[in-house]
Amino acid sequence: MASLTLLAPFLVLLAGSAAAKSCTDFIIPVDILSRQGLFKKVPLETNLDVTAFAQELLRNGQNYTATLLEDYQTLKGSYKISAKFCHPEGGIGESVVQLLSHGIGFDKAYWDLPYNDYSNSYTDAALKEGYSVLAIDRLGIGMSSHGDPFNEIQAQAEVEALNAVTTKLRKGEVPEIGHSFAKVIHVGHSFGSIQSLWLSALYPNNTDGLVLTGWAATGDFTSVFWAGWNMHSARLNQPLRFGNASSSGLLNTYSAWKAGDALIKGIQMVLNKLGVGLSPDTIWEDIATTEVSNLIRGYNETTTPLDYASGYVSWSDFTANQFCFLHKGHYDLGLGLFSEANKQPMTVGEALTIGSFPQRSSFSGPVLVFTGREDLPFCGGDCLATGTNATSIPAGAKALFPKATPFEAYIQPDTAHGINAHYNATGAYQVINSWLGAHGLGA
Ligand SMILES: *[C@@H]1O[C@H](CO)[C@@H](O)[C@H](O)[C@H]1NC(C)=O
Ligand SMILES: *[C@@H]1O[C@H](CO)[C@@H](O)[C@H](O)[C@H]1NC(C)=O
Ligand SMILES: *[C@@H]1O[C@H](CO)[C@@H](O)[C@H](O)[C@H]1NC(C)=O
Ligand SMILES: *[C@@H]1O[C@H](CO)[C@@H](O)[C@H](O)[C@H]1NC(C)=O
Ligand SMILES: *[C@@H]1O[C@H](CO)[C@@H](O)[C@H](O)[C@H]1NC(C)=O
Ligand SMILES: *[C@@H]1O[C@H](CO)[C@@H](O)[C@H](O)[C@H]1NC(C)=O
Repeated sequence: MASLTLLAPFLVLLAGSAAAKSCTDFIIPVDILSRQGLFKKVPLETNLDVTAFAQELLRNGQNYTATLLEDYQTLKGSYKISAKFCHPEGGIGESVVQLLSHGIGFDKAYWDLPYNDYSNSYTDAALKEGYSVLAIDRLGIGMSSHGDPFNEIQAQAEVEALNAVTTKLRKGEVPEIGHSFAKVIHVGHSFGSIQSLWLSALYPNNTDGLVLTGWAATGDFTSVFWAGWNMHSARLNQPLRFGNASSSGLLNTYSAWKAGDALIKGIQMVLNKLGVGLSPDTIWEDIATTEVSNLIRGYNETTTPLDYASGYVSWSDFTANQFCFLHKGHYDLGLGLFSEANKQPMTVGEALTIGSFPQRSSFSGPVLVFTGREDLPFCGGDCLATGTNATSIPAGAKALFPKATPFEAYIQPDTAHGINAHYNATGAYQVINSWLGAHGLGA
């Protein structure tokens, strides 16, 4: 049973605290041209509309991408990519940069989690090895330009944006950085891995190495993943943060909530007034692990709400988060709750195009696939249960990279999809950065 002390991380996450760090945040403008789908739009205003979309997406025998595809289009546009650049002190780290692309449900903070004084920061581990890193919010997400969730923010457009950022890094065209890089290594997580591999297939000369974390080439477990995801409208899921609802009324009404665990006490008080007597444990379970925490998320913030359009969707709550991303007993609950509070949505256009990545890349440099053994979306919960003599499910991705030298698949124990939230995340970072150093991609 959850004790009152477990309320602490929940309250900390609401506060959204963050320590200062010597990295810079800025916007990288990109112009892109993307050949992509033109989809028939279906209603996505309510949670039940969104559920119907998920039902069609998973319907046996139907390819919903093909059902909705009316035509192809060439999307042409100028967009803003929000980036965070970090580099080691002392004039090192100027020749090799790791370009970090987050997965679904996260933003660039995935790579530099402020939780617990940055104990699970991939960025810190890479900087220690002498790398510079640039983490971006993928096009459409977070502080990068948002767009039409059907026909603008699709996988292909994001790959083009990633490629444009890569070229600017290589040529020294990011004024906030002020110099070029000889090598750009693409490090992705999940959908970010798919986009990195996609870039390597379209523009093999624009990458020097791939690290594809939280990924395998199979789509066998996609339905289980989406089902457990329990797709809801982002605007309705976190109305104060993802929508445009104002929290000022709430803050005025419940000003007592601003202090410490008064939030839980306040809710308990309201419930008691209604004649509902619930223990703190029950209230904790019902708030922290369910959509109730999402309903109030952002109430204590002064930042501008993200105001995503309908058609941006999110998983329902922290139980879905664990189902899809976390291995119980092997992740820090506080960090898990932090990830729920700070999650990001995705677009239905992404859901319709994520599976369209090229089945072959002619990239001939080093490729590391790095996936947690208990990964659900790509391994069905066990990357070693191949049912064949293959060493692992991620090892099967070798077929997409016939020229990669070397290709390696590494399975991280006691870790599910959201690698960075697990206890042994730093063990993972060590393997990745040593591997790069051992294969000609040292800083
Ligand atoms: C609300 O925000 C303030 C200022 O950031 C913080 O000190 C306080 O702890 C927060 N309260 C809760 C309940 O999150
Ligand atoms: C589904 O349809 C799209 C659009 O026609 C196509 O690109 C994709 O390959 C199809 N997917 C499968 C699994 O057949
Ligand atoms: C990559 O570079 C090689 C050698 O310069 C060139 O032959 C090839 O066309 C380039 N490939 C792409 C996709 O630009
Ligand atoms: C909030 O968003 C809704 C739906 O997009 C819109 O109709 C409404 O005008 C917006 N309200 C404000 C205050 O921006
Ligand atoms: C797996 O088994 C097949 C035959 O069933 C064999 O041809 C292949 O070499 C084996 N692969 C490995 C890695 O042992
Ligand atoms: C942590 O991960 C590293 C790299 O995979 C591994 O060598 C180590 O055994 C792991 N530690 C634990 C306690 O599982």
